[in-house]
Amino acid sequence: MKPLPDTERRDLMRQAACVAGAWAVSGALPSVAAGEARPHPRSLLVDEYASPWLARRIEPGQAYLFNYPYTASPVFLIAFEREIRPIELITEDKQRYATPVGVGPNKSIVAFSAICAHKLMYPTPAISFIGLRSGGSGEPAQVIHCCGDNSRYDPQQGARVIAGPAPQPLAAVMLEWDARSDQLHATGTRGGEMFDAFFEKYAMKLELETGSSLRKPTGATAVVRPAASYSKQWRSCKA
Ligand code: FES
Repeated sequence: MKPLPDTERRDLMRQAACVAGAWAVSGALPSVAAGEARPHPRSLLVDEYASPWLARRIEPGQAYLFNYPYTASPVFLIAFEREIRPIELITEDKQRYATPVGVGPNKSIVAFSAICAHKLMYPTPAISFIGLRSGGSGEPAQVIHCCGDNSRYDPQQGARVIAGPAPQPLAAVMLEWDARSDQLHATGTRGGEMFDAFFEKYAMKLELETGSSLRKPTGATAVVRPAASYSKQWRSCKA
């Protein structure tokens, strides 16, 4: 197996120390059940014409968005050039969990809630303050960056927090890939979901944007769009 670069190894060690520290403080092993995937109704990923959005259609290094597990909760869909392996992370309320392994022919496709774990900024059809951007010095090549308060997440390591005030990783969205058909389904979430706070905070805004502030399950299909066309404007964090 190829050895990890120093920066990656240091980060993993820091993450492990963080988890171990949390256990020591709590004085007990966290509940295993808390780290299990939370199933939601399965949704087939499709394009705007309802044709399945096949895994081979996902360009590595590009961000796509779909809404899951609710019609108003956006999710980043990203493929990388390399296999994505699970790591152990911890939520704000000290629950450890294993991040999902990548799916697809190269085990390189992952999905994360696009609701920032800090103050819940999210991509809307009008504008997005959170998106996939180039990493800075000492960071991975690409990071998910929220312009709100400059939280940065590493999408190749379970969207763990690498900078900024976010108190936990972005929640992971579980994907299933069918090798015969190349189709993808979203099936649930893992990690720190923010949906309760999200729907409470944005009830009025969601009512204006979507006509309803209620949680409506995504349904049998979820439409995937390139991030560039999901929001009219992608806010530059330098602006
Ligand atoms: S809302 Fe994203 S960093 Fe504050």
